[in-house]
Amino acid sequence: MVGIKIDGKIIAQIVKDRVKKEISEFKNQGITPCLATILIGNNPASATYVKNKHNACEEVGITTKDHKLDETITQHELNKIIDELNEDASVNGILVQLPLPKHLNEFDTTSRISPVKDVDGLTPHNAGLLSMKKAKLVACTPSGVMEMFDYHHIDLEGKDIVLINRSNLVGKPLYHLLVEKNATVITCHSKTKNIEKICHSADIIITAVGDRTKFILTPEMIKENAIVIDVGISKFKGELVGDCDYEKIIEKASFATPVPGGVGPMTVAMLLKNTIIATSLGTQIGRQ
Ligand code: GUN
Repeated sequence: MVGIKIDGKIIAQIVKDRVKKEISEFKNQGITPCLATILIGNNPASATYVKNKHNACEEVGITTKDHKLDETITQHELNKIIDELNEDASVNGILVQLPLPKHLNEFDTTSRISPVKDVDGLTPHNAGLLSMKKAKLVACTPSGVMEMFDYHHIDLEGKDIVLINRSNLVGKPLYHLLVEKNATVITCHSKTKNIEKICHSADIIITAVGDRTKFILTPEMIKENAIVIDVGISKFKGELVGDCDYEKIIEKASFATPVPGGVGPMTVAMLLKNTIIATSLGTQIGRQ
């Protein structure tokens, strides 16, 4: 039996419609939410992602400030730009597109962002709150995955979930979000032994490797009726692909996300939602 497609475009549109309503309420109060993005260097994939984020902001009525910085920018110069955006009252959210060029430090960069403008949820403050069930700003891809489960009424309680990623942007926040829902979570990474066996025991697999030369999730690796969320995205033989072949995996899975059109649109939609949350956190501070 063929499983059900988890369509990121449809669910993202629902999130965007909610965001649009909240924006019109802000606009009634004379506030127009604004997201500042920082893109460093010439990574074509990153440039496309940032462009998509700008287009989505425009679609819902969020203004943007676009900072395209030269590959050679120093950490000191980058810090100064982040400090200025932190101080700029017209900016509600700040996003530094990752990955950074090698000479820049990811932790120093992301942790410099004001926690109330941290739309990626990457600052130690927001990551810490998430681990204590108190998060307000959560990384966009993990919260997008949770919206997908919600939309399909997929109950996570007691489920065995395998995460194939341990990054600050995906694996770690997802771990906390899933455990909060009473799932049992195993995190796999490049040094994990017996990944096939671990995947085969899972009710749900969330894979985010993004490199077909290193990892492919095949139908043989999942159990019948497992749920597969494919966060991996990369170019392989000229095509945009995930960590698995959707058409093959959906023959065995009960639910699965396609690539493209799965988790990708959710990441963008949740960024819009986070910009609204950051706007309200900022205005709360302004009122104090
Ligand atoms: N690079 C890939 N995904 C993301 C994301 O969600 N946020 C940022 N800042 N960079 C990314």
